[in-house]
Amino acid sequence: MPSVVIVGAQWGDEGKGKIVDFCAKDADCVVRYQGGANAGHTIIADGRTLKLQILPSGVLYSKQLLIGAGVVIDLQILSNEIEQVKSLGIDVNLVISGKAHVTLPYHNALDQKWEISREEKKIGTTGHGIGPTYADKMRRHGVRMEELTREDYQEKIRININIANKILHHILNDDQYIDFDEIMRYIREVGPRMRDYIGDVSKIVNEALDNEQNVLFEGAQATMLDIDHGTYPYVTSSNPIAGGACTGVGVGPTRIDQVLGICKAYTTRVGAGPFPTELIGPIGEKLQVVGKEFGTVTGRPRRCGWLDLNMIRYAKRINGLTGLALTKMDVLNGFDKVKVCNSYLIDGIETENVPIQDLERCKPIYFELDGWNSLFEGNVLCQEAKEYVKKIEEIVGIPIYYISTGPGREEIICLRNVWS
Ligand code: IMP
Repeated sequence: MPSVVIVGAQWGDEGKGKIVDFCAKDADCVVRYQGGANAGHTIIADGRTLKLQILPSGVLYSKQLLIGAGVVIDLQILSNEIEQVKSLGIDVNLVISGKAHVTLPYHNALDQKWEISREEKKIGTTGHGIGPTYADKMRRHGVRMEELTREDYQEKIRININIANKILHHILNDDQYIDFDEIMRYIREVGPRMRDYIGDVSKIVNEALDNEQNVLFEGAQATMLDIDHGTYPYVTSSNPIAGGACTGVGVGPTRIDQVLGICKAYTTRVGAGPFPTELIGPIGEKLQVVGKEFGTVTGRPRRCGWLDLNMIRYAKRINGLTGLALTKMDVLNGFDKVKVCNSYLIDGIETENVPIQDLERCKPIYFELDGWNSLFEGNVLCQEAKEYVKKIEEIVGIPIYYISTGPGREEIICLRNVWS
């Protein structure tokens, strides 16, 4: 099977970086298709911890890395990441689509100030300028990476900065002033470092597929944060779902063979918005502490709750999932009983649907399973953990490929291989 999309099945932070890293070993190329510096992927390997925001997670294997048109790029962050990886003695074999849009400092300023102006209705944005960059793209006035190779984008930037200043001063009542010359100095300093990486990513990926190479499409964020199918408006501004791989890279849907959903053994969410299985109290706090549930990008504590299979079934439908990877199983150690949600109660009626606009009113209906103290008996999963895994497969109706049992690269059980 030459092409696999890896997608978050919940609200992000499912441990996609580790699974991408694991699968990247047998991939020829790894391509990111959406999002930007709002993502935070942690890879722990060979005693090294690498935290990435934009570079695809296959980087530790020195694979061909690609960044598709659907990604938005913070030049400074990407440039720092490339330097960080090179300083570890790892080659960065990277091509960035010329069609990918650039996040500039005025996008960050607008993002942060819009968020403040939302008062009680805050989205919980990472403040990395993601929404405003995609807004400029859709307004058809954004700056693309390919423009950095020319000099004719200045007028567009002048207009964008004018608009940004007007919004900041007149709508958001902010006294910050974005200076055109300063932004141009920034672009002239960081932009040229990126020029050599720019290329035709769609062509490269399609040719790789023509040549039966293994292509891994790496999603950032997750299904429930999708701008169209997530818990709008508490979402990101791109399409993390599997379909986003087609538009974000420039490949047809017929070229995708497998879609692997990454699902934490419980549920977390960072930022605001509905969360039916959220646990406020000691169990939620235990999951947060044991699971080290604090954001990679912002350090914010993540809200925690039991596993919601009703939502995973929704993720299966929206993405066409063909399999799952179950992560952070070890975090569930030490519970007498573990609860799993299989449906919701809304207005006194049980539903196996996920009514996005009414999610706030949905109450989870749980079933209970025996918990476990230690995940392993000898070197196999204990009976209770096996039962947990079996139930997930039965209810969602797709096989589990990988089970992550700890943060390290080797702490993973491979039940099936996405490439075979
Ligand atoms: P934005 O994408 O920075 O605008 O943030 C929008 C929402 O998506 C906020 O609730 C963020 O916390 C959430 N979000 C964005 N990126 C990630 C991620 O990589 N993991 C988890 N949540 C994220």
